[in-house]
Amino acid sequence: MLTAIRAYQRLDSRGNPTVKVEVDTSQGTFSALVPSGASTGQHEAVELRDGDKSVYGGKGVSKAVHNVQDIIGPALVKEKFNPQSQQKEIDEYMRKLDGTPNKARLGANAILGVSMACARAGAAAAKIPLYEFLRKEAGVATESKYVLPVPFLNVLNGGVHSGNTMAFQEIMLAPVGATSFEEAVRMACEVYHRLKTVISDKYGPSATGIGDEGGFAPPITKPEEALDLLNTAVADCNYTGKMKYGIDPASSEFFREGDQYDLGFKDKTSNLLSRVQMLQLYTRLIEHYPVVLLEDPFAEDDWDAWTEFNKICPIELVGDDLLVTNVERVRMANDKKACNSMLLKVNQIGTVSEAMEAANLAFKQGWSVFVSHRSGETTDDFIADLTVALNTGHLKSGAPCRGERVVKYNRLMDIEAQLKVEHKSYIYAGDSFSSPSKR
Ligand code: PGA
Ligand code: ZN
Repeated sequence: MLTAIRAYQRLDSRGNPTVKVEVDTSQGTFSALVPSGASTGQHEAVELRDGDKSVYGGKGVSKAVHNVQDIIGPALVKEKFNPQSQQKEIDEYMRKLDGTPNKARLGANAILGVSMACARAGAAAAKIPLYEFLRKEAGVATESKYVLPVPFLNVLNGGVHSGNTMAFQEIMLAPVGATSFEEAVRMACEVYHRLKTVISDKYGPSATGIGDEGGFAPPITKPEEALDLLNTAVADCNYTGKMKYGIDPASSEFFREGDQYDLGFKDKTSNLLSRVQMLQLYTRLIEHYPVVLLEDPFAEDDWDAWTEFNKICPIELVGDDLLVTNVERVRMANDKKACNSMLLKVNQIGTVSEAMEAANLAFKQGWSVFVSHRSGETTDDFIADLTVALNTGHLKSGAPCRGERVVKYNRLMDIEAQLKVEHKSYIYAGDSFSSPSKR
């Protein structure tokens, strides 16, 4: 039973305030830290910020902290919720207590912190690891094998996550040819370090600084330049064929009036491309590079472009800003045949249960699910367990660099080791990351 709930203002990886929640039960104290995006979707649940420009530039979260301390916490304690058996009820109760469609009153950041901390308390009460607890909550069949995901590591950063002029936000490296998660991490780290040398040789050592997600941010503009650098590093490591790529242009950030996309948005050079030209660019990239996943190639409400592209797109087409981990948008996208995969970010929707519900709907529609961190992260490793719980087959948590990124990869290596010791049947998703051993 929940006996007390507290909240604090703490920092995320960009030095911005975020919400930390602690819940007490008879088993102890369980905490969670909430992440925060930069290229956020318009339809995401509301992240409550104080807006007082004289404190943290308006980014303080003291109102959200207050909402946990004085509204959500006392109400949940009074209701005597049991986190071991009532995750859905707790989440539903908070949703109703908020009373708005997008958690604007209490804040999705307040609600999510409580939801995640309660899941940890529930797992502890059940004396099982968090991934087991979430697996049961999601209704995954007990006999299905555990799936260790392919990590998609954002090794070259652009967009609003870095200071270079590349419009595309993320160029990801996916070690599909590994035989285990641990090996995937090793291979990715080898390429990451080689990439640093390749960049340094070409642009000088000052070009090896990194962006928000730990990837390099050299002075490049075109995605082809990024993919060529990556090809070189992969070849130098003798991993050609074993490494595939993912791209997240995060195109809502540079969608402009008149249905155009401005690839020059970062240095204001105005390099406008029509939808058709964008589609041609993606087709070229897929033809010339081992790209296996494309996320948000079109803007969050540019539905027709998504539908057109989905007809011909030969790879995994992921909706992030398009879907915002929201069942209504996931359903809408299925009706419009707009994509074939859902990005799962827990803070886009604001509770663990709703995120899992969206994932289950996506699976039911025959899609894949791709779990994601945010660009503003914390050292909370919740999404590692969530990925294994849902058998999603892939996740992205940035480059193998910086604590808030590697903590998720480290946790996944721990889970893999634990499954091995316990002789539980598991696979590394590898090439079938889009549809790992079906649930
Ligand atoms: P964000 O970026 O966390 O800044 O939204 C991640 C993404 O677009 O996938
Ligand atoms: Zn994205």
